Amino acid sequence: MYKKILVPLDGSERSIKALSHTVALAEKLAAKVTLMHVVPSLPPYVNTAVDHLGQVQQSIIEELMKNGKEMLEQFVSSISDKNIEVDTYTVMGQPADEILEKANQDNYELIVIGSRGLGEIKGYIMGSVSNRVSRHASCPVLIIR
Ligand SMILES: Nc1ncnc2c1ncn2[C@@H]1O[C@H](COP(=O)(O)OP(=O)(O)OP(=O)(O)O)[C@@H](O)[C@H]1O
Ligand SMILES: [Mg+2]
Repeated sequence: MYKKILVPLDGSERSIKALSHTVALAEKLAAKVTLMHVVPSLPPYVNTAVDHLGQVQQSIIEELMKNGKEMLEQFVSSISDKNIEVDTYTVMGQPADEILEKANQDNYELIVIGSRGLGEIKGYIMGSVSNRVSRHASCPVLIIR
């Protein structure tokens, strides 16, 4: 049970806490872990690849993807002393949609997610990503407060 665990990370404190819980679980269960980051899509303001703004947008996207990959690699290094199999996945899109699709397509058995993330506003219990993922996932979801 829970041999494949997906942990979505936005770099927030709560998502890092979700990673610690995942590592502790994965060690006990001998589970494989995937660290996932979604670069949120830019608003469809400039779509053409031919004009100057299109090129600027393209380089912003590349930079954001690179940044996301580096962040995940740092998290991998931070848990390299643990005896667990880890890989990473970075993609651009709507965070909740991408997390749900990845979990579904690759048959993850558990998603461990923070209750809040970078956009935390005091007074709300859950962020929009954790809210949507917990309501629509086809596997169990562990929400870390
Ligand atoms: N872009 C992302 N990529 C990967 N995981 C994410 C991303 N955004 C959020 N998450 C995951 O979802 C958890 C909850 O974050 P969420 O975005 O729902 O809360 P929030 O930022 O406080 O609120 P909101 O984004 O609705 O303003 C995070 O701790 C993280 O585990
Ligand atoms: Mg957020």
